[in-house]
Amino acid sequence: MTTHPLLAEAVAGFSALFEEARVAGEPDPTAMTVATAGLDARPSARTVLLKAHDARGFVFYTHLDGRKGRELQANPHAALLFHWPRVRNGVQVRVEGAVEIVSDAEADAYFASRPRVSQLGAWASLQSETLESREAFEQRLSQVEQRFDGREVPRPPRWTGLRVRPEKIEFWYGADFRLHERWLYESDRAGDWSKRMLYP
Ligand SMILES: Cc1cc2nc3c(=O)[nH]c(=O)nc-3n(C[C@H](O)[C@H](O)[C@H](O)COP(=O)(O)O)c2cc1C
Repeated sequence: MTTHPLLAEAVAGFSALFEEARVAGEPDPTAMTVATAGLDARPSARTVLLKAHDARGFVFYTHLDGRKGRELQANPHAALLFHWPRVRNGVQVRVEGAVEIVSDAEADAYFASRPRVSQLGAWASLQSETLESREAFEQRLSQVEQRFDGREVPRPPRWTGLRVRPEKIEFWYGADFRLHERWLYESDRAGDWSKRMLYP
C-alpha cells in the first residue's frame, strides 16, 4: 500500500521533531502518554515508551492483561501525547487512531533486544494486579530466574506491542504572546488525508 503524501509529511514532521527533542536534551523523548477507555467510556492515561514509528503507526510494548491492555482489547482506540518543552518554543504532538497488536515476529524481535533483567521482569509482573508486598514480587522474580536459568528468555505470550494507526496527528508549536500554531493532519474514513490549521 502506498503512503498518502500528507501522512508521509506528518510522519516525517514527527521524526524531525523527535530528533530535535533528542538533540535538545529532553530527558526522554520516547516517553508519551497513552490514553484509553474501556466500554464504560471512562478515560485512563499512563506513560509508556515509544519503540517504533513509521507511516503504519506508533508502537509501544505492554502486558495485555494490565488495565490499558484490557481496555484496548475491548475498545481498540487510543490517543498518544508527546510534550517536548525544550524543542523550539515548546512542542506538543497528539496522535489518535485505532490500535492493533503487532505481529509475533515483530514483538519477538523487540523482546529479544531487551536486557535480560527486563525480560525476566516481564515474566514476573502480573501487571496492574494487587501486589501484596515488594517481597512477593522479588520472590516471583527469583522463581522466573530459576525457570529460565541458562537459556534464552522467550517472550511472555500476553506481552506484546501495540501499534496506534494514526487517523489524526496534530502538531502544536509554542510561540510568544499565545500566537501558538496548530496543524492538524486528518484522515477520512476512506483513508484520504487532509491538513489544516486550527485556532490556537
Ligand atoms: C517513564 C515511564 C515509562 C514507562 N514505560 C512503559 C512501557 O513502555 N510499557 C508499559 O507497559 N508500561 C510502562 N510504564 C508503566 C505505565 O505507566 C503503567 O504504570 C503500567 O503500564 C500499568 O498501566 P495500566 O494499569 O494502565 O495497564 C512506564 C512508566 C513510566 C513512568
